[in-house]
Amino acid sequence: MAKRTEIKNLLAAPKVGEKYLVKGWVRAFRSNRFIALNDGSGANNLQIVVDTDNTAEELLKQISFHACVSIEGTLVESQGAGQAVELLAEKIEILGANNLEEYPLQPKKQTMEYLREKAHFRMRTNTFSSVFRIRHGLSYAVHKYYNDKGYYYLHSPIITGSDAEGAGEMFRVTTLDVDKPPRTEEGAVDFGQDFFGKSTNLTVSGQLQGEIAALALGKVYTFGPTFRAENSNTSRHLAEFWMIEPEVAFNDIVDNMDLAEDFVKYLINYILENYPDDLKFLDGRIQDLEKNMKKEERREMGLIDTLKFVIENDFERITYTDAINLLRSSKPYKKGKFKYEIEWGKDLQAEHERWLVEKKFKKPVIVVDYPKDIKAFYMRENEDEKTVAAMDVLFPGIGEVIGGSQREERLDKLKKRIKEMDIHEEELSWYLDLRKFGGCPHAGFGLGFERMVLFITGMSNIRDVIPFPRTPGNADF
Ligand code: 4AD
Ligand code: MG
Repeated sequence: MAKRTEIKNLLAAPKVGEKYLVKGWVRAFRSNRFIALNDGSGANNLQIVVDTDNTAEELLKQISFHACVSIEGTLVESQGAGQAVELLAEKIEILGANNLEEYPLQPKKQTMEYLREKAHFRMRTNTFSSVFRIRHGLSYAVHKYYNDKGYYYLHSPIITGSDAEGAGEMFRVTTLDVDKPPRTEEGAVDFGQDFFGKSTNLTVSGQLQGEIAALALGKVYTFGPTFRAENSNTSRHLAEFWMIEPEVAFNDIVDNMDLAEDFVKYLINYILENYPDDLKFLDGRIQDLEKNMKKEERREMGLIDTLKFVIENDFERITYTDAINLLRSSKPYKKGKFKYEIEWGKDLQAEHERWLVEKKFKKPVIVVDYPKDIKAFYMRENEDEKTVAAMDVLFPGIGEVIGGSQREERLDKLKKRIKEMDIHEEELSWYLDLRKFGGCPHAGFGLGFERMVLFITGMSNIRDVIPFPRTPGNADF
């Protein structure tokens, strides 16, 4: 019995005249003769030619959409356009027949919403298999980037007793009986009797633990799942998402911006170089979708051109204060087109970020030095005492992909901020210790992994770039 060859490898070095054994799923079966076979190894299908006249009727019937087959045959130069080679089938075996009458997917275009409900089958489509191959490639590139630069990968905890962002949007972790929890004398739930002897949650960020490690190992990064119970049902938010958080001793906010820009450009370039077939497919998919759209609804550039544009141009860097001034003198502001107020001290909303990135600068923008009152307690206060050394990286079509800052390393300033923000100092005693005992200036950021996958694949909903999305009301599979 011949050894199986993966389709990607076969197509990379096809040997015409050789016999091959391939296994995979039928993506299409045309004219009772041509199978487009895919085994997941790459975006390109192998064309199989079936000898219809000499194949049993029963067998032919079973070669249906998304059935799983094993095929032996001889590779020849293709007669038709669209592929260089094709396999003349000599032996066909059905490994897993498909009952199309009951199968939830059909060989036609299905909406993303429908496919989301069928998440156990959606990876079999061209679109989702490309998305998840690229997602893998990006994960690998993250580790490669930091490893090559001498960073250490830190596994920050998933269950935590602290709330890094102070946002209070956390999922509780408990083993208490929710129907009859133990109570304190005052009647509150007694978390002292819970599994960890205290109240615990799923982490919203590995940053604070990253800081511990950076002050010993110098350069570290985390890459893990994070959880936020924010009830935002948008195409950019998940309740469970993955974040990459580098933390670097001796870096200031400018070093931090440089690292962020270099890092995301590296990721994009990695996918351009290593996943051209998947990108080509996704680029074509968008062009197809846009055929019926009005011109102003279409993207200005194709997917691959957009990615190239981002790596070839410097990101725009502006202060929050300048951003506010630009927004207030913009056309949509003067015409009353923005829904949310634009005022110094208020956070920028998605519509404002999009104007800056898509209309004003037409490229990624890094906004820096935000008002301290809209940012987390750990960000370093600037000399003006009104702003902090915080930065957000904004991407076209996506908005914020990165949030980060230089950290407040001065103990007195940090304590003052913790008090002002009404955070319990005792819970952060270890964090303050890092300033008391051998502290140093340091900085870091968090890249939202799914937002990056979203940008690189050109998909439009974040639920379609994570295998099993968790959003308000949804935790299937
Ligand atoms: O801006 P955020 O909240 O920053 C932090 O968590 C810091 N502790 C990071 C640090 O300095 N180490 O989140 C970072 C990024 C955002 O820019 C966004 O890309 C992504 O995480 N993000 C989300 N992605 C999907 N769904 C959500 N609900 C997200 N919330 C944040
Ligand atoms: Mg943020």
